[in-house]
Amino acid sequence: MSSPQAFDSLATAYDQTFSQSQIARWLRGRVHARLANYWREGQSVLELGSGTGEDTLHLGGRGIHVTATDVSDAMLDIARQKTQELSNVTFERLDLRDLPDDKLLGPYDGVFANFGVVNCIGDWSQLAQWLAKRVKPGGIVAFGVMSRFCLWESAWHLLHLQPRTAFRRWDGVSTFQPDPTQPAINIYYPLVRRLRKDFHNEFRQKSLTPMGFFLPPSDAFGVVEKRPRLFALLTEMEELAMQRPIFASFADHYWIEFERLP
Ligand SMILES: C[S@@+](CC[C@H](N)C(=O)[O-])C[C@H]1O[C@@H](n2cnc3c(N)ncnc32)[C@H](O)[C@@H]1O
Repeated sequence: MSSPQAFDSLATAYDQTFSQSQIARWLRGRVHARLANYWREGQSVLELGSGTGEDTLHLGGRGIHVTATDVSDAMLDIARQKTQELSNVTFERLDLRDLPDDKLLGPYDGVFANFGVVNCIGDWSQLAQWLAKRVKPGGIVAFGVMSRFCLWESAWHLLHLQPRTAFRRWDGVSTFQPDPTQPAINIYYPLVRRLRKDFHNEFRQKSLTPMGFFLPPSDAFGVVEKRPRLFALLTEMEELAMQRPIFASFADHYWIEFERLP
């Protein structure tokens, strides 16, 4: 066992409080639809920050060889249990702040990190160089990234007279301490152009999709989920927003895809 991590304390309740919520499931479904365009049975994919393994289970169930990694042993334990029937899924502890030269060499057909994993690091050029050595030419690298300016979050917390929380992302970094016995960690909010710049030597940006422009961030899931007609309306509007990359910087997350240059 390695040293305890900030996310360990969230692992047990993560699926109940987040993964199983209607909005998270809807958004994850959209991510799965995109990934289905890229990877087929028998191909190899590296997952960063796999959490409790919801996406690992989905891709592994489709016969894709998934190497799922996370810094949190508690998260990895849950993901391992969830996928124990799948011999094509393997796990390894990986800290994105300390990328090893000699491990996880692939080569992979693709790499992904869903729901804010790359927000846990503040230098994406190192990640880009590390991935460039591991992804096949033409392979897809895709991230679900928390945006800098989430309009829903700002409006919601201003309405609740919480101005600090309302603008916590706007400086580009905030702190997160789910477990008071563990040190706080920094959460960074890269602009799209920053990621594009950090990846541009080895990768070409392929697509950009807003995720959670009309649908709220997790703090406010409940207010929409208990109103089925509102949920139906917002998901319809979200489908339209997803076709407009311009909304990406103001949504809760954006989904960005890069292609490894030959
Ligand atoms: C919000 S969760 C997302 C989990 C999963 N990808 C999902 O879609 O549900 C963020 C994950 O990133 C992991 N994480 C945080 N910092 C990390 C780091 N430095 N290296 C690797 N994983 C990290 C956490 O342990 C956690 O499992």
